[in-house]
Amino acid sequence: MLSTPKKRSFFTRELLHWNARFNHRDMPWKHEKDPYKIWLSEIILQQTRVEQGREYYNRFVHAYPTVEQLAVAKDDDVYKLWEGLGYYSRCKNLLHTAREIVNKYAGVFPKTYEEIIQLKGIGPYTAAAIASFAFQLPYAVLDGNVMRILSRYFGISTAIDSTEGKKELATLANSLLDTDAPGIYNQAIMDFGATICKPKQPVCTNCLLAENCTAFANVEQQAYPVKEKKVKQSSRWMYYFIAGNKDNYFIRKRTEKDIWFQLHEFVLIETNNKKSIAQILKLNAYKQLMPSTASITNTSEVYTHKLTHQILHIVFVEARLQAGTKLDGYQLTARSQLKKLAFPKILSLYVEKMGKTIT
Ligand code: ADE
Repeated sequence: MLSTPKKRSFFTRELLHWNARFNHRDMPWKHEKDPYKIWLSEIILQQTRVEQGREYYNRFVHAYPTVEQLAVAKDDDVYKLWEGLGYYSRCKNLLHTAREIVNKYAGVFPKTYEEIIQLKGIGPYTAAAIASFAFQLPYAVLDGNVMRILSRYFGISTAIDSTEGKKELATLANSLLDTDAPGIYNQAIMDFGATICKPKQPVCTNCLLAENCTAFANVEQQAYPVKEKKVKQSSRWMYYFIAGNKDNYFIRKRTEKDIWFQLHEFVLIETNNKKSIAQILKLNAYKQLMPSTASITNTSEVYTHKLTHQILHIVFVEARLQAGTKLDGYQLTARSQLKKLAFPKILSLYVEKMGKTIT
């Protein structure tokens, strides 16, 4: 029997016991009751480690203390503040939803799960977090961490990325929730996943649940959670020409539905396989864009940047252009202006490091 009432009630009781006695994890949004700030923290944390998220959360709350202030902010300013966090569709949705809350709900964050989950960028996990933390509504959070904890403790071998597995875990997660204190329970299970039932090295010797944990009993902690599919990753090769003269570079804003939406970039030639710079210079895409008089002054190593479904390989090529050159779709911009604009972190880091090598 995987899940019995006794095993379930032990889980909830001991999790809350652990939380009350031993959970010392402190985070700026913990015990927060303002739904706007809870929402902000959860969006920031969706694909970001708590350590990194903390700093961004503080900066956002400081710059935009209320949803109204975020709603009237300039897009470019908000993207600039988001710079370095990655997965920029989160930022786009953040702005969209702040404006929707002001326009549709007169600036008052909606108070029901059904309304909250309708908001852009908010899925079942984030809706449950906001509903339980801000409004004490009985919705259990279910993310990768909770799935790992539950599948280990109950020994669930249904794949968590299958329809069946998702249903099974959602039902189980809701049956474990302490409906008298859903916010405390939800925060406890997340902290437990981050500090005790960790992905790689769970601290089973300190775990109050270990005596009833199926994975622990069978020394199978690493076998859970079971997944059906491997994440497929595609490779992109991005050759960035940092092109210009002494103090100015050509840049543009990315406006396609793609990674780095609304961020700025340098002159880009993209391919789906590795090429030498000599091969890049022979491509039509290059010849149509760059003048034949461009002279290459430096080529970087390959930087690799992994996203969930893509691996980016990035090469920077520094190129000097003659005075008066124009590039289709790009604007010549003073180097001193660059740090005011939002760039993908990997690009701004390179420019910082580059020094004034273009002369
Ligand atoms: N990850 C996502 N949301 C979190 C929260 N509220 N506390 C800790 N870790 C989290």
